Amino acid sequence: ARISLRQLLDHAAENNYGVPGFNINNMEQGIAIMEAARKTASPVILQASRGARAYANDLMLKRIINALAEIYPEIPLCMHQDHGNSLGTCASAIQHGFTSVMMDGSLKADAKTPADYDYNVDITRKVVEMAHACGVSVEGELGVLGSLETGMGEAEDGHGAEGVLSHDQLLTDPDQAVDFVAKTGVDALAIAMGTSHGAYKFTRKPDGEVLAMHVIEAIHKRLPNTHLVMHGSSSVPQELQDEINAYGGAIPQTWGVPVEELQKAIKMGVRKINIDTDLRLAITAGIRKTMSENPAGFDPRSYFKPAYALMQKVCEDRFEQFGTAGNA
Ligand code: G3H
Ligand code: 13P
Ligand code: ZN
Repeated sequence: ARISLRQLLDHAAENNYGVPGFNINNMEQGIAIMEAARKTASPVILQASRGARAYANDLMLKRIINALAEIYPEIPLCMHQDHGNSLGTCASAIQHGFTSVMMDGSLKADAKTPADYDYNVDITRKVVEMAHACGVSVEGELGVLGSLETGMGEAEDGHGAEGVLSHDQLLTDPDQAVDFVAKTGVDALAIAMGTSHGAYKFTRKPDGEVLAMHVIEAIHKRLPNTHLVMHGSSSVPQELQDEINAYGGAIPQTWGVPVEELQKAIKMGVRKINIDTDLRLAITAGIRKTMSENPAGFDPRSYFKPAYALMQKVCEDRFEQFGTAGNA
């Protein structure tokens, strides 16, 4: 059944668990996520970026989601716009049946340049007005995601802020968060505390210097009714890096956010944990292995099947680790 992000995360907050927000671009990812949800009885957040909507086509994506909702009727399903950059993107998502939208006003509409606070408040408030009138939830973002190690935003994979940013920009300020929520009325708030999108988050296992966990506690204390969201929360599992590299890949050694840190974050009040990269690594590992072991093969089903299995394993692990399991 379709539910809004507010409904889903209210239940998570009452019962002290977290919910992964998994990115979807195609049928294979969708089935892997939903199979894992069925196996572990977990509620699901499927989220589509603007890139995903363009890749899959809005109509195709909508039909995939409708089919998943029909095939897995027992699973509470929230369909969420990831990183909306304008009122129009959020409006068209709602028209296609999304039950939640993110208005990321931490960046300007080009999705690269850090935006000023007033712009963020203004555009986010407009999206909230529109979305709430339709019974759709809204996630906002305050603070620019980026590495506390280098001060770099996310030029690497083509989105996020460019250039060197100050710690002020990279860490969400709790006082400002309180003001932002009061002025916009968002249901959920993405905070910046040292994570970044993509596989290359940290050059070593992150410690308190590069992963500012205290920011979560400080904001949650002040905003107990606003659901906190952690972006850039892939763990970038070593075994997937190794598997990809064993079969012809060339991924330089890198570190993501360790699962135990995500579990601490949930204890501190984080409810939605965004994961895209880990599923990208899993699908790639499965395809690389099969292709390399059977170079004469060319039936796409033969390499998507093992890729499904690896994605499903990541999803099952996160549902169990975040306490999502058993709540569907
Ligand atoms: O925002 C980050 C997600 O990983 C989506 O990435 O824009 O390449 O689809 P994408
Ligand atoms: P990862 O790149 O760490 O998977 O983060 C995804 C994300 O934040 C999507 O909004
Ligand atoms: Zn994100």
